[in-house]
Amino acid sequence: MSAPTFPIMAPASPLAAPITGLMWVTLLLGLGVFLLVTVAVLYFVRRYRHRGAAGEPPQVFGNAPEELIWLGAATLILVLLFGLSVRVAAQSSPPTDAGTPEITVTARQWFWQARYPGGAVSAGEIHIPAGRRLLLDLESGDVIHDFWPYRLGRKIDVIPGQHNRLWIQADRPGVYQGACAEYCGTQHAWMRFVVVAQTPANYRAWLARTALPAASPAAETQDGARLYARLGCPVCHAMSQASGVGKVGPDLTHFGSRSLLAGGVLSNTPQHLRRWLINPDAVKPGTLMPHYPLTATEVASLTRYLEALK
Ligand code: CUA
Repeated sequence: MSAPTFPIMAPASPLAAPITGLMWVTLLLGLGVFLLVTVAVLYFVRRYRHRGAAGEPPQVFGNAPEELIWLGAATLILVLLFGLSVRVAAQSSPPTDAGTPEITVTARQWFWQARYPGGAVSAGEIHIPAGRRLLLDLESGDVIHDFWPYRLGRKIDVIPGQHNRLWIQADRPGVYQGACAEYCGTQHAWMRFVVVAQTPANYRAWLARTALPAASPAAETQDGARLYARLGCPVCHAMSQASGVGKVGPDLTHFGSRSLLAGGVLSNTPQHLRRWLINPDAVKPGTLMPHYPLTATEVASLTRYLEALK
């Protein structure tokens, strides 16, 4: 599937399609009014232009029927858009008794993390089974964010101390972009995520694989594992291999199997990871990831260790 030029105009979900439809109705209505007014202005400018010494034209004040028409037309358009908006909101939003959320999504400056039934955790990418509607629970670890999987559903604020719920659905398997839609600090623009919609069988397999602890470090990655613990990385990053309760940064248990780094700034390759470890702030100014003065050897062993966490 090739990526559409304007993804928000290419809904891939029965939850997003009515929103795009409403956008078109609003846009076309607005365009109609714009054209009507423009043509009328041009016509009247030409028709009643100044033609030499004609003197002052007759002055007209008030015309009840015409004013009623203007008011009535504007009111009708507003009522129509209001009614459509209420209907679309009802189609895309879960009712309060929609059941128990399957996936919990946590927003933090500046990444998204998801927790699944069975203990799997992912960051930067949210896995869902295609062809079925899922209820998400959304929470924030710091400030107000806004979760927006634009081809798969509506957007919703993610507020500290509050649990908001959102339906999400993808018609077909695929990778769909999403973004934070509310300014939440320096790196708001790089608070991206992808939704990975899989066939139900692949999703179940992924859930089971991701719920497992990472494999023990092989001989060639043990240097990196020791360094990871010595530098205090587990204080911020939870990981099944390292003791620690980190919640500030993304869980790294299966880091090597992810597609994105640093909230979507970089794709996850050893080369990019080295760049990130050498100076995170150069890649993503304002990031909460500290800048450690690491030697080239240390960067290399950390990279080997982390990328091996499949
Ligand atoms: Cu999070 Cu903007």
